[in-house]
Amino acid sequence: MGLSSRARALRHGVGHFGTRAPGAPRRPATDDAAFTARGRTVLVTGAAMGMGRLYAERAVREGAAAVVLWDVDAAALEATAAALAGAGTAVSAYPVDISSLEQVQAAAAAVLADTGAPDVLINNAGIVTGSYFWEHRQQEDIARTLQVNALAPMHITREFLPAMIGRGTPARILNVASASGTLSVPRMSVYTASKWAVIGWSDSLRLELLAAGHPGIRVTTLIPSYIRTPMFAGVTAPLLTPLLEPGAVVDRAWQAMLEGRARLQLPWTVALGSALRGVLPQPAWDLVAGRIFGVYRSMDTFTGRRPSAPPPAPPPAGITAETPAETPAETPAAAEASR
Ligand SMILES: NC(=O)c1ccc[n+]([C@@H]2O[C@H](COP(=O)([O-])OP(=O)(O)OC[C@H]3O[C@@H](n4cnc5c(N)ncnc54)[C@H](O)[C@@H]3O)[C@@H](O)[C@H]2O)c1
Repeated sequence: MGLSSRARALRHGVGHFGTRAPGAPRRPATDDAAFTARGRTVLVTGAAMGMGRLYAERAVREGAAAVVLWDVDAAALEATAAALAGAGTAVSAYPVDISSLEQVQAAAAAVLADTGAPDVLINNAGIVTGSYFWEHRQQEDIARTLQVNALAPMHITREFLPAMIGRGTPARILNVASASGTLSVPRMSVYTASKWAVIGWSDSLRLELLAAGHPGIRVTTLIPSYIRTPMFAGVTAPLLTPLLEPGAVVDRAWQAMLEGRARLQLPWTVALGSALRGVLPQPAWDLVAGRIFGVYRSMDTFTGRRPSAPPPAPPPAGITAETPAETPAETPAAAEASR
């Protein structure tokens, strides 16, 4: 990104650091069945760590022309961008709090100007509060979880989709939901609500693109159970549903995204649970999910990211945060005290 582009990004309220020269050649439309990341632009939200970083690494390994990284944690984002640089892929990083529509729009405008619309959009960033609903703080937990997990994927996709449609080349959108979007889980009611929203929106978008005559833009909804990242540290894995390895999930999700599959549920017990929940009377399903599989007690041991973990760095100059940065899971007393 040149100095003038950087100035423009900051003027839009978004800091940006990157290695990409604008105007790099874009891969032309190819046989949709053979969609690959080679020569394409891949944008990942929540790219600084966890699964998001793995998607970005995968894009670089597969020869993407450009990888665009978005995250609220500017310091971790910069470290990830530096680690990915030098492998032949142009890497650019945008510190952006996706809970803010203003920041999403500013960052999207900067990306459209600097790199163009992504060929692959991965809506991955997410947060969770592991406590009873009445312990959630109104703004920091309830509103922010819905903003980051549910609204942001819609706003981000809305910013880029017209350009993706207008370009007429094959494209992919991977929306990261959760198995908790297919059932109910105590101690994550708001997170669960946000992921139910993602699943409904994501799959409706898939159908809309088909109905409107844009079959080359395919939408995949990822629906995984618990994954071994710090986000859900401490959870008790339900019966027959072991903690998934992040690399294995990214492998499967990446392949499903390239193939343009509508939905990927991991592991197989997630699909089984949806089927059983659909046919069993509620008391029977509660017995199966709660007592037999242990889903309803899985969050009782949740610790999440440790409070000792370093908090995200404050946004760089130019960013106006609308809400406080994500906080680690809190004790009921702390949550109550902050209301
Ligand atoms: N870990 C699991 O067990 C699990 C299970 C099912 C689904 N998921 C989903 O997978 C996705 C990735 O999870 P993960 O385990 O890698 O989480 P993670 O906590 O390791 O990473 C999340 C990333 O999102 C970023 N982020 C958070 N708030 C943001 C904001 N406001 N703006 C921009 N970036 C923000 C964080 O800084 C972080 O880099 C999430 O959507 C999560 O809900 C995770």
